[in-house]
Amino acid sequence: AKNVGVLAMDIYFPPTCVQQEALEAHDGASKGKYTIGLGQDCMAFCTEVEDVISMSLTAVSSLLEKYNIDPKQIGRLEVGSETVIDKSKSIKTFLMQIFEKYGNTDIEGVDSTNACYGGTAALLNCVNWVESTSWDGRYGLVVCTDSAVYAEGPARPTGGAAAIAMLIGPDAPVSFESKYRGSHMSHVYDFYKPDLASEYPVVDGKLSQTCYLMALDACYKHFCTKYEKFEGSQFSLFDADYVVFHSPYNKLVQKSFARLLFNDFLRNASSVDEADKEKLSPFLNLTGDESYTNRDLEKMSQQVAKPLYDVKVQPTTLIPKQVGNMYTASLYAALASVIHNKHSELAGKRVIMFSYGSGLTATMFSLKLHEGQHPFTLSNIATVMNVRGKLKARQEFPPEKFVETLKLMEHRYGAKDFVTSKDCTLLAPGTYYLTEVDSMYRRFYAQK
Ligand code: ACO
Repeated sequence: AKNVGVLAMDIYFPPTCVQQEALEAHDGASKGKYTIGLGQDCMAFCTEVEDVISMSLTAVSSLLEKYNIDPKQIGRLEVGSETVIDKSKSIKTFLMQIFEKYGNTDIEGVDSTNACYGGTAALLNCVNWVESTSWDGRYGLVVCTDSAVYAEGPARPTGGAAAIAMLIGPDAPVSFESKYRGSHMSHVYDFYKPDLASEYPVVDGKLSQTCYLMALDACYKHFCTKYEKFEGSQFSLFDADYVVFHSPYNKLVQKSFARLLFNDFLRNASSVDEADKEKLSPFLNLTGDESYTNRDLEKMSQQVAKPLYDVKVQPTTLIPKQVGNMYTASLYAALASVIHNKHSELAGKRVIMFSYGSGLTATMFSLKLHEGQHPFTLSNIATVMNVRGKLKARQEFPPEKFVETLKLMEHRYGAKDFVTSKDCTLLAPGTYYLTEVDSMYRRFYAQK
């Protein structure tokens, strides 16, 4: 199979959200801390009728329907998620309800988990399957689904929620340049979920930022080495039309792109002109460790990178800024943003993707975009996703109601024997929602 990659995509995020400006005031944070300091506009969250299973049911059924895919044509289904609802039964098995109805139970794949990286693991598995000798000619399907919620404190505004479904196959409008991949994996405690009674992570915020940037450096280095080996020429940011980052909050994305440019400067690459070289030269002799904490370097590299950021990164930031950190779905929501914003001018472009999951696992990989063939075209993907419409149809909750919802969800996490309000007035037709968890912890969903 050739040009294997993403044929079709759909995204779902809850219609319930809280404005970061309002949350900032409510939390007693200084004005601009969440909106400028973190760079976030708005944050989606699940109410008691939604969870990672309902969101993924919605995303998958919507994708199959809107692209007119016969459920029998799915041969592999992989889920990436770090939101634990059951320690044994995979989210994938819940999604089988959709396929069993059509008599298709011959579907490989289960869930992948490592913080925000699980979706990338699932995607690489599916792409590898289609490229392999075990491929049976049917489609792969990847689902990234997470509800990111934090305990009260500085991390809380970096939550979010969404599910993304991606159909995988050959001759894709979003195809993998499979040879160009760089990974970095290491053992650290930057963000983890050791308390199985709580949905909230334990997080060392500052450490997680540094780990993210160190992983970015390492992946970029490996990526460039592989590119140069196969292409015989140096890679620089000039060879990337768009750079798409896992996006816990936008400020980290701004810093990350600046960091890549600083890497290009250190590698003496063509993307850094003479004037910029001069501005960065005072930082040439910093040790690696110093360079992660030097505020002057951070400021200067962001300033130097700004014109390129506006072209190569800004179009990828819409959904992550509006919905928040969607964990496994975050990187793919950023990819969805550039397809939404630029679909008519993307053919022939190269997109560099950076996936990061705390703990930690990270991979940088490369995608090539093509117009594609109906229904698998970039413009049809943009139409189906209807990002603008979904953002517009949202209901803003005041911060008090957001906090109240999270309190209720704390009680509901790991609980049994309850029925939900079944209130689906805010949900769009076709959306799945949770109705009941019975005395045996079995979960029941209905579709609006
Ligand atoms: N106006 C403008 N900017 C402001 C204001 C203000 N009033 N107040 C603060 N800021 C800026 C700060 O200067 C800082 O920006 P800078 O880094 O460019 O200097 C930024 O706002 C954040 O403020 P801090 O005080 O540095 O950090 P805080 O204690 O608020 O915590 C953090 C931020 C660490 C990101 C926290 O939200 C967190 O732990 N989040 C979860 C972990 C995370 O997302 N890690 C990323 C990778 S791992 C993952 O994906 C889960």
